Parts: sequence; structure tokens; C-alpha cells
Amino acid sequence: MNILAIETSCDETSIAILKGETSPKIEGEVLSHALNSQIELHKEYGGVYPTIAKREHAKNIIPLLAKALTDADMSSSSAEVENVSEEKKEKVREFLSREPELAEALITLSSQIKKPDIDHIAITYGPGLEPALWVGVTTAQAISALWDIPIIPVNHMEGHIFSVFKKENQFEIPEVEFPLLSLLISGGHTQLVLVKNWGEYEIIGETRDDAVGESFDKVARMLGLSYPGGPEISKHAQNARENNVTPNILLPRPMLHYDNLDFSFSGLKTAVLYELKKHDSINEDLVGEISLEFENAVSDVLEKKVKHAITQYNPSTLILGGGVSANKHIQKTLENLCKESGVTFLSPEKDIQGDNAIMIGIAGLSHIENSLENPDALKANGNTRL
Ligand code: KG4
Ligand code: ZN
Repeated sequence: MNILAIETSCDETSIAILKGETSPKIEGEVLSHALNSQIELHKEYGGVYPTIAKREHAKNIIPLLAKALTDADMSSSSAEVENVSEEKKEKVREFLSREPELAEALITLSSQIKKPDIDHIAITYGPGLEPALWVGVTTAQAISALWDIPIIPVNHMEGHIFSVFKKENQFEIPEVEFPLLSLLISGGHTQLVLVKNWGEYEIIGETRDDAVGESFDKVARMLGLSYPGGPEISKHAQNARENNVTPNILLPRPMLHYDNLDFSFSGLKTAVLYELKKHDSINEDLVGEISLEFENAVSDVLEKKVKHAITQYNPSTLILGGGVSANKHIQKTLENLCKESGVTFLSPEKDIQGDNAIMIGIAGLSHIENSLENPDALKANGNTRL
């Protein structure tokens, strides 16, 4: 079975085509992956600007679809093309009425290639930036109408959980012992999720204010580092650590000793602001010290909360996911904790740590297997699904 997966929840437009099986287990290969990152465009605003994100998704989504189809060997020669009916073209124009150029680009593509061998479309329906999500969802609806392919809505955070099952060009969901624990850390979210079964989730802890990635980005901005701030801070922190720098600064570890699994990161940002006020200028040494102490503080809090969750729920496995999973120090800290606790540690490969459609496709395949074709939206103290 072939899956076309689409992800447009933030600043990455991504299309993947997966060939997979759901029985006896979920496994398969990535036939193609086309991605456009808007990071360079958003840099000058110091964060993602929703109107620009939407415009860029609308501009790039059909060229990326064409590339993904070609790379998956699914855009056959024009001799085999069947005519698309006027009725179907009208449906495409209806779904994409607010983006007429996108509609025409899709109609043109459909007149150049044969209907591709796709069985399902997996689409990120949320959470994310509303205008950005809208482009992906309406494009998926238009493709669905054009080629009569059913849609599987996938939660973006659930996608990050499934990202750990890709290895190079293959993916496979192994036999696991439930429950699993997942720490999802990204620019928009910080969640501890108890995976009771595939498709059955409970959020057991989350941030009360800033997400981890967001706090990295905000502190980076205060230090004069560019967006996205996570990789910049971690680079400076690593440098300082390698040079045996001992920070003269002590930042708080918010909610470290609270007897719950929630997080709070906005106080850390404020503490950095007060620290900076003590200095007339920001030099390299200060950037290094603050980056190191900040990364240590975040990592200490994540470690403590995960440890607490492991004691409370006794999971077989910890799945780390989301853009911040790229942070080597956080990875190492959690990996060591898992070793000590006898818990299997899984984290995504480098090319799938950020937002991408491959993880959405794998999660989509699991929805087919588990007959979860209409997942509810993420519930705050959710009992069932992400
Ligand atoms: O999951 P993601 O790609 O997009 C969202 O859904 O938010 O996460 C992006 C976030 C950004 O805040 C970025 O600064 C952070 O991930 N990030 C990092 C690192 N690489 C990316 N944070 C800390 N250390 C890193 N190495
Ligand atoms: Zn994400």
C-alpha cells in the first residue's frame, strides 16, 4: 500500500511517499521525500511569520508534490494520461478557492501525469499555525477529490512519536511492551505522553507557559543569536563545555521539585534577562556561559521529570521526539537516564528530528492498522488520542 503524506504545520513544506504494509507488522520504505524549509525567510523576523509561512506553503506544495511523485517513479509519461473531468477540476477549484494559483497548478499537474498509485493521503491536521495547516489540509482535500484517494488525518505530535521508527530509507514498528513514555519537545510543544497503545495516548505532563524550543529561541534572541536559536545555543554550550567552562551564573530549574510532571520555562528566560542587565555588553564568553548554564538547566528539568514519570508509570521505552531532540546534551542525558533505569531509549535520526512528512506517513499507516481514521483533536488532559 502506498501513502502520500503531507506536512505544513509550521515552516516546513514536506511531501513524502511511503510504501508500506500494516500486517503482520507496520513496515516499509520511503520512496521519496521532498522538503522546503522556510527558515531563511523567517530569520529576519526572529520567528515564524504565519502569513509568510502560508504564502510559501502555497507556492511550493505542488512543485514538491511533482518532485515526490517523480522521485517515487509515479509520474508516468504523458501518453498514458487520462483526461480529468471538468467536474473534478471544479472540485479542486472549490477546495482551493482562496488559492486559485495553487488550484491551477494542481490541475495542470494532473493533466501531465497519470493518476498515481496512491492508496491513502496522510495529512497533518494540527496542532500548528492555522494558516499554514490550512494550505496542507485543503490541498489534501483537492488531491483526494481529483484522484479519489481517502484521507487519514494525523496529529502532528503523534507524527513526532512515530519519527523514531525510520532507519535510513526503511521504517518498521517493532513489537513493544506498553506503556511507552514519550517526551515531545519542539518549538510549540513540551509534552510527556503516556502511550498506552498505538492510537491511545494520555498527556501526563506539559508546559504551563513556553515550550522548550521556544525558550531556546527567545534566549538566543536576547544573546543576539539568530533564529532558530536552539542549534545556536547548543553550539555555544558545547563549545563552553569542551573548554571546561564553569558558569559563574546560576539559572533556576523551574518546577524541579514539584510533585507533578508539568514544566515551566518562561522564568528561565526572565532570569537570563536579569543576568544580562548586570553586564554592559555581551561578549563571546558571556554567550558561552549563559548558553551552557541554560542548556544544563533545561536538561536537568527534563531529566528530573522523565525520571519521575518512569518511576510512576514503569514504561518499557522512552521515545524522544520534536525539533529539540536534535540537542546532543539533552539526548545524552536522557539516554543515560534510560540506561540506569533499564528503559529502552529511542530518538529520531538526524534528518527526521524537525518537521517532515515521513513521520506523518508512518503514523498514518498505523491509523489504518488500528482503524483510527477519524482521530479527535488533542485533548488537554486527554484520555484517548493525540
Ligand atoms: O519540531 P520542530 O522542528 O518544529 C515545531 O513543531 O516547533 O522544532 C523546532 C524547534 C525550534 O524551537 C528550534 O530552536 C529547536 O526545535 N531546536 C533545538 C535544536 N535544534 C532545533 N533546540 C535545542 N537544541 C538544538 N540542537
Ligand atoms: Zn514539530
